[in-house]
Amino acid sequence: MQAVILVGGEGTRLRPLTSTVPKPVVPLVDRPFIAYMLEWLSRHGVDDVIMSCGFLATAVRNVLGDGSSYGIRLRFVEEPDPRGTAGALKYAEELLDERFLMLNGDVLTDIDLSGQIAQHERTGAVGTLALVPVDDPSAYGLVRLEEDRSVREFVEKPAADQIDTNLISAGAYVLERSILDLIPPGENVSIERQIWPRLIGHGLYAFPDDAYWLDIGTPQRYLQGTFDIIEGKVDTAVRERLGAGYLSVDPGADMGGRVVPPAVVESRVTVAAGAQVGPLVVLGTGVRVGEGSTVERSVVLQGAEIGSRCVLRDCIVAAGARIGDGTHVTGGAVLGEGATIGADNVVTRGARISPGVEIPDGGLRF
Ligand code: GDD
Ligand code: MG
Repeated sequence: MQAVILVGGEGTRLRPLTSTVPKPVVPLVDRPFIAYMLEWLSRHGVDDVIMSCGFLATAVRNVLGDGSSYGIRLRFVEEPDPRGTAGALKYAEELLDERFLMLNGDVLTDIDLSGQIAQHERTGAVGTLALVPVDDPSAYGLVRLEEDRSVREFVEKPAADQIDTNLISAGAYVLERSILDLIPPGENVSIERQIWPRLIGHGLYAFPDDAYWLDIGTPQRYLQGTFDIIEGKVDTAVRERLGAGYLSVDPGADMGGRVVPPAVVESRVTVAAGAQVGPLVVLGTGVRVGEGSTVERSVVLQGAEIGSRCVLRDCIVAAGARIGDGTHVTGGAVLGEGATIGADNVVTRGARISPGVEIPDGGLRF
C-alpha cells in the first residue's frame, strides 16, 4: 500500500522548535516525530511513502534517508511553491497508485487504518476520511454524516454556531486516483475547502474511530503528545521500550539524583545529587541537570545544560540551550536551540526564546 504524507507547512505555531529543525523531524521522546507516522503506517501494510515537502526538505531527507530502517520505500517530492493540500497531491501525481492513503504530516495517532481501508473497499468510495471526536472542533474540519457513513457536510474551521458534532477529520484519507481529475494543475488548491465539498454525494465516506489522536502543532500539544507517549496512552514503539514501569534510564546515564516515572533518560545524561527528574520528563542525550534542580512535565533536548537549584515545569528546552543557576522555566515556555538564560531568571507564561538568544543573569520576569 502507498501513502502520501503532507509535510509542506512551516510549523510556525511550534516555533522556536521549528526555527532550526523542520517539524517532521523535531524530536518527540526518542525519535523524529515523523517516525511515529511511518511506524504506524508500516503496521497497517504501507511499504511505499511519498513525502510531499516544501520548507527545509533537504533536512527531512537527511534525517530519514531512504526509509529502509522503517521497511518502507521513501521518496520525496518538493513543490517549487506551496500548492496547498490538494495542489501538493496533484504535484505528486506521476508517482501515485490507483489507491493510496493521504496523511497530514502533523498527527500522532493509532487510528485503525486497516479497518478504514476495508470500509473504503466495502462502500466503493472515492475517498474515505478518518474521523475522531475532539472537545473543540473549531481548529479542524468538522464532518456531518449520513447513517450509511457517507459525508453530508464538511466544514473547515467551523464557527462556534456551526458546531453540532464533535467529529472532525483526522487528516488521514483513503483515496482513489480519480480524485486527481478534480484538482487543477499548477495551482494552490485546498483539499478541505475545494475538493471535499465537490465530492459530497459522489463517493465521499467517513470512518469514525475512537482511537488516540493529537495534532502536535503547538508547544502545549507537543508536550501533551510527549506525556501520552511515555504514559503509553498511544500505541507506539516507545510503549514497548518503557514497559509497565513507564521508565527508561540509559545505563550510561550518571544518576546522582532521583527519577520519578514516567520518564525517559537518554545516554550520557548527568543528574546531580539532590536533583529530581520526573514525572513526565524526557532528557535527551548528554543533558546535564545541576544539584538540587527539579524537572517536571518537561522535555529537555540533546546537550542542554541546566544549572543548580533550577525549576523546570511544563516547558520545552531545545538542544544545546543553557540555563543558569536558580532560574525557573515554567508555564509552557519554550527555549530555542542554543539559547542561553543567565542565573536567577524567571521565564514563564508561554514565553518563546529564539535560538541562540542570550539573556543575562537576573532581572528577567516574563
Ligand atoms: N506539501 C504541502 N504543501 N503540505 C502542506 C501544504 C502545502 O502547501 N499546506 C499544508 N501542508 C501540510 C502541513 O504540513 C500539515 O502536515 C498538513 O498539510 C495539514 O496542514 P495544517 O496547516 O496543519 O492544517 P490544519 O491542522 O489547520 O487542518 C488540517 O488538519 C486537521 C487535522 O489536524 C485539515 O485537514 C483539517 O480538516 C483537519 O481536521
Ligand atoms: Mg495541523
